[in-house]
Amino acid sequence: MKAGLIALGGAALALAITASAQQEAGLRPVSAFASIADKDARSVALFEEMGKVLQHPRCLNCHPRTDRPNQGEAMTPHDPPVTRGPDGHGAPGLECAACHGPRNVAFAGGKSSMPGHPDWHLAPASMAWEGKSLAEICEQLKDPKRNGGRTLAQLTEHNAKDRLISWGWDPGAGRAPAPGSQAQFGELSRAWVASGAKCPAAK
Ligand code: HEC
Ligand code: HEC
Repeated sequence: MKAGLIALGGAALALAITASAQQEAGLRPVSAFASIADKDARSVALFEEMGKVLQHPRCLNCHPRTDRPNQGEAMTPHDPPVTRGPDGHGAPGLECAACHGPRNVAFAGGKSSMPGHPDWHLAPASMAWEGKSLAEICEQLKDPKRNGGRTLAQLTEHNAKDRLISWGWDPGAGRAPAPGSQAQFGELSRAWVASGAKCPAAK
């Protein structure tokens, strides 16, 4: 009985590892959704694929629910404590740029690195995604009052081209990049908008 339980535990662990390996593998292309005949269902499926990026630690860490960024794969509070300040660039005297330079810098040994980008700063509070369901994130992304006044076309453009987002796929040594590529994420966004920009049902 006990041995059986242990074997079962092992199988569950193997399954969990396979599932996370598949998740890491990347994003499905837009063509993979063509067979979903119902347009609304196809739109929701496309957004759920985008969700693999939106809810990845590389993105969530900068879209926190508090005024403090998170860090790492476990998304723990930023250490040392820092706060967004008046415009997301940090508190006067302790701006993000005091530590985050214009590009990633590998630490000695090359196993980890300091994230960098010329305009490194925290997403506004209205764009907080941490702790929200994909359905909630979807509604919020479409809402110009909360998404920085963007139309759906501008949102797509942002997803496909914005350079700060690009960092998520080039996060430096010691960090897993967001799945797929930014180009693929842009294509999924475009197809999602073209299919009516439907959101998953709230759970
Ligand atoms: C006193 C220095 C310092 C300041 C100021 C600072 N950071 Fe950091 N930050 C770090 C260090 C060091 C790391 C890397 C930790 C590690 O991975 O070893 C880091 C990591 C991060 C990460 C984690 C990236 C990831 O996905 O793992 C985010 C996000 C972040 N910082 C955002 C900010 C923001 C936004 C600001 C300004 C509001 C800021 N930081 C200000 C030192 C700082
Ligand atoms: C270094 C911090 C940082 C990281 C990392 C980051 N973002 Fe952002 N994000 C921001 C800031 C700042 C804004 C606001 C910029 C603006 O409105 O022009 C923003 C805005 C956005 C928006 C605009 C609309 C909205 O409602 O949020 C989208 C979409 C977005 N980010 C997607 C992503 C994705 C996808 C990733 C990961 C691949 C990501 N972000 C990673 C800081 C970050």
